[in-house]
Amino acid sequence: MNERTKPPYRIKVVEPISILSAQERRERLSAAGYNLFHLKARDVYIDLLTDSGTGGMSQAQWSAMMVGDESYAGSRSYERFREATDEIFGFRYVLPTHQGRAAENVLFSSTVKPGDVIPNNMHFDTTRANILANGGEPINLVVDEAYDPTNRSPFKGNMDPEKLRRAIAEYGSQRIPMVMMTITNNSGGGQPVSLANLREISAIAREHSLPFFIDACRFAENAFFIREREEGYADVSPLQIAREIFALADGMTMSAKKDGLVNIGGILAMNDPEVYDVTRARLILMEGFPTYGGLAGRDLEAMAVGLREALDPLYLKDRIGQARYLGEGLSSVGVPIIEPIGGHAVYIDAHGLVPNIPQSDFPALAVANELYLQEGVRGVEIGSVMFASEKPDGSFEYPEMELVRLAIPRRMYTREHFDVVINAARKTAENRDGLSGYRIIEGSGPLRHFVARFAPIEKA
Ligand code: F0G
Repeated sequence: MNERTKPPYRIKVVEPISILSAQERRERLSAAGYNLFHLKARDVYIDLLTDSGTGGMSQAQWSAMMVGDESYAGSRSYERFREATDEIFGFRYVLPTHQGRAAENVLFSSTVKPGDVIPNNMHFDTTRANILANGGEPINLVVDEAYDPTNRSPFKGNMDPEKLRRAIAEYGSQRIPMVMMTITNNSGGGQPVSLANLREISAIAREHSLPFFIDACRFAENAFFIREREEGYADVSPLQIAREIFALADGMTMSAKKDGLVNIGGILAMNDPEVYDVTRARLILMEGFPTYGGLAGRDLEAMAVGLREALDPLYLKDRIGQARYLGEGLSSVGVPIIEPIGGHAVYIDAHGLVPNIPQSDFPALAVANELYLQEGVRGVEIGSVMFASEKPDGSFEYPEMELVRLAIPRRMYTREHFDVVINAARKTAENRDGLSGYRIIEGSGPLRHFVARFAPIEKA
C-alpha cells in the first residue's frame, strides 16, 4: 500500500447511501434539468460536488459540541474558538460567521465602493459575486502557468507580482481597498501558493499601503504543500507554516467548512481597529452578536477542535494522498486532469477530454453529467456555465478553462469509492464521441450555475 494513503483513523459511524440503476439516474438527471445542483442527494452514490461542510467530524469534535456554551454574549465557546484562532492565525480581531461567503459579505459591504478593484490570484465564485454586488470589480492576477493544465510547476496558485504592480499602476491604489490571495487556489485547480510568493505580494501591498487579506479556506492543505515543495520547510510543522503565512497578512476570510473540518462555520479576522469597527457593526446586523456570529456555541467548539486537527501532518498526508490516488487513477484511464494534482479535488480538463464540444455548448457540463449517468458520481462544472460573462453587446466572454471538479469530502470516502469514480471516468472517456453539449433554458447572472436548467443539444 502506498505509504501516503494510510488513513490515520477508522470508521465508527456509518451513513448508508443508495445505488440507483442507470435508467433511474437518466430519469433523475432529466428531471433535474441536467443540472447536478438540482438532484436530490439521495440519488447520488458518490458526492464529490464539494468538500465544503461535507466532511466527517472526529469523536473529539462531537464531544466538544456537548460542552458548547449557548450564551448570547461572551460564551466560553467563543473563548475556545479564540484560543484556536489566536494560536493559528494570530489576528487581533476575530469574528465568527456562519460560513465563508458571510465573512466576504460583511467585509466587502464594509470596505468596497463602486468602482473599486480587488486583485486576487483567483477569486472564488462567491468572492467574485460579493465584490460585484458591492459595485467592485474582481480581477484575477494568477501566474500564467495556472491556465496551462499540463504545466507541472509546484506553486501554480501564485499571483504574478508584475501583474499586481501593473494593476496598481493602472487603477491607482485609491481604487484598491485590499489585495487578496486565495490559498489554495480553488478556481485554478486547488493549487498552492508558496510562502515566497505570499511574502512578495504582501511586500508589494505594504509598499502601496494596501491591506493584504487571505482567503484561508484551505490554509492547512496549502501549508502541507509548502512543507512538501518549498525549500527549507520539510521539517517545519504545518502549524508553524500557517503562522508564517498569516503573519504576512492584515486579515482573512475563511469558510471553516473546509479546513475547519466542520459542517458549518466561517471566520473574518483583521488587525485594523477601524475595519473591525465597521465590520463588527455589519456583523451584528447580518449575522449576530460578535461572540457567536450566526453560529451556535457548539459550532464554535467543533471549529476550535477542527482547525487544529486539520493541521495534523498525518491527517494532511492521508487527505492529499486521497486526491493523488484519484487523480493518478483518472490519468491512468486516459482522462486529462490538471497537474500537478491539487489539495482538495481533482480537476478534469473537459476541453481536453471532449474538444469537439464548443464552449458555448458547455463541454464541462457534458462531462459532469456523464459521470453521474455512468456511476452516480456527482462532480461540479467549473467552466462556461459558472464563469462565462455576458458582454454589453450580448455576446459571451468564455473562461480560459473548462473543468469538472471532483472535490473530496474530508474523512468520508475510501479507496473503494475512488475506484468507482475512476471507473465512471474510464467509461466517460470511452464514450466521449457520443457526448453532446447543452443549451441553457433557464437561469442567468453570476450565480446561474446553482439554478440554471439545461436541455441536451440533439446531435445532427
Ligand atoms: N472562498 C473559497 C476559496 C471557497 O472555496 C469557498 C467555498 C468560499 C470562499 C465560500 O465559502 O461556501 O462557506 O460560503 N467553496 C465551496 C466549494 C462552496 O465547493 O468550493 P462558503
